[in-house]
Amino acid sequence: MNSSLEFGPDVNPFIYDDMQGVAEAAVALILNAASAAISARGIFHLVLAGGSTPQLAYRLLVNADTDWSRWQLYFGDERCLPVDDPERNSVMAQQAWLDHVTIPLRQIHPIPAELGPEQGAAAYTAVIKEAIPFDMVLLGMGEDGHTASLFPKHQHNEGELVHAIHNAPKPPSDRISLSRDTLAATRQLVLLVTGSSKQGALQQWIAGKKLPVASIRPDSTVELLLDKQAAGIVE
Ligand code: 6PG
Repeated sequence: MNSSLEFGPDVNPFIYDDMQGVAEAAVALILNAASAAISARGIFHLVLAGGSTPQLAYRLLVNADTDWSRWQLYFGDERCLPVDDPERNSVMAQQAWLDHVTIPLRQIHPIPAELGPEQGAAAYTAVIKEAIPFDMVLLGMGEDGHTASLFPKHQHNEGELVHAIHNAPKPPSDRISLSRDTLAATRQLVLLVTGSSKQGALQQWIAGKKLPVASIRPDSTVELLLDKQAAGIVE
């Protein structure tokens, strides 16, 4: 359901009853994008969101009818933790989805955040250089309006494809994140935002506050998938 919430001319908000509705809508968009990319170019380059919101969509993708051999997966950000740490975004995606489908391992590109912010960012820059533009980027949003690991009031080096992040307000403090411009280098950008805790940041976005999530500006329209709780719609 399109919504009357106004986030700006290049943002298309869609409101669903609940997290399940957002997850199902996200899966439909992802599979449509995959089908179009595979038909047009024989490959589908997708950047995965971290955090907990996308987990439901990842679980639903396990049963998708698609040619997994054509998928190339990247991550929007990663926490600087050991490779098998359950708090890693890569581990969440593996457990919910990737361990249960046949995407060739060489086509899943986790951020080597176990190397630490600077080394990991440098290594991932080489990977990203070969991948952009993406076909689709998935992102979440934090309660402060952060996205990936781009946090309010943080300064980043212009021109970097991948940033080393320190002092992140959301633990762990050391992270690695694709840059604003890298996240925007995509044919489609889909934002998944659910839960009443995100209402404040969404209202600030509508009011025109320069939040990191609002700074990701692809050439195409941003598809913002919300549930009623995040949109502040009380039945
Ligand atoms: C991370 C994520 C982060 C996340 C938001 C929302 O590493 O934590 O990349 O940007 O998307 O914080 O997190 P939730 O989906 O858990 O609310």
